[in-house]
Amino acid sequence: MLRSTSKRILMKYYLSDTEFNLFSTLIYDQSGIHFSSINRSILESRLKERLRVVDLKNANEYYHFILKDQDEMKTLLDLVTTNLTRFFRNNGHFLAFENHVIKKIIEYKKKQGINKIEVWSAGCATGEEPYSVAMVMKEKLPPYIKTEVTGSDLSLKSLMIAKTGFYPENRVQDIPQHYLAKYFDKKREGYQIKDEIRECVKFDYHNLKFDSGLKNMDVVFCRNVIIYFDGEAQKSAIGRLWKAMSEYSYLFIGHSESLFGMNTDFKFLKTEWATLYQKNTTCSE
Ligand SMILES: C[S@@+](CC[C@H](N)C(=O)[O-])C[C@H]1O[C@@H](n2cnc3c(N)ncnc32)[C@H](O)[C@@H]1O
Repeated sequence: MLRSTSKRILMKYYLSDTEFNLFSTLIYDQSGIHFSSINRSILESRLKERLRVVDLKNANEYYHFILKDQDEMKTLLDLVTTNLTRFFRNNGHFLAFENHVIKKIIEYKKKQGINKIEVWSAGCATGEEPYSVAMVMKEKLPPYIKTEVTGSDLSLKSLMIAKTGFYPENRVQDIPQHYLAKYFDKKREGYQIKDEIRECVKFDYHNLKFDSGLKNMDVVFCRNVIIYFDGEAQKSAIGRLWKAMSEYSYLFIGHSESLFGMNTDFKFLKTEWATLYQKNTTCSE
């Protein structure tokens, strides 16, 4: 039952220091997402909304409810994520992908006699990133090369939108016209991505706090995700990406993110279009 006094809805919700510590520690332990005192009010407003929905009086009650209910834990994590994304976000990355990465991977695969390229969009939110990747691959790869894109996230709400492949008009503005015309059907209220792209993309619930079980990924996009983690969680998430990547592969992170100071084996790569990282444990360049 929803509580509906307008006073309650308008009032700002404050967590005590103890409650804030309980929730920020729980969220961090479960996901790597770090709430500092600077973004405390974001946590407060998101919890306020959830307390109203589950009809609990205070954060302490809610905390104990979550501990007993794994589904509610997932709901909490979903609630505290920021799922902002767009098609072809940071276009320089897509130009580097198309003009540099794809070419290098094809050369490498040719030597290996493999006709498949696998890409992981880790923290894919509502799917714009993996679909952008899949469109570029469809357009640029020779047809004998099979394409597989995996989009993963811990936000179930976002994944549900991603799976539909349907986007309202205001969400398709960054898609180059020829891609929009070729790979989407106009529906009355928006655009539906065509099956030929949907078929190359699969979506999975995955929390980057844990191993993904993925292997031999040729390219990983993990952009604007680790920015929400603290240093330690960033380092372990990057270590897990490394494990999921093929011996010759590429990593894109967000342009306000960096591996600087993490002491990883990724090589920093500057291309004409964007900077990215390379894993190369083969002997060749
Ligand atoms: C700001 S969006 C970025 C989406 C897309 N990668 C982009 O750059 O446009 C960040 C996404 O990371 C996801 N995320 C945050 N922590 C995560 C975790 N521990 N495991 C998996 N996904 C996570 C959020 O749910 C959210 O959808």
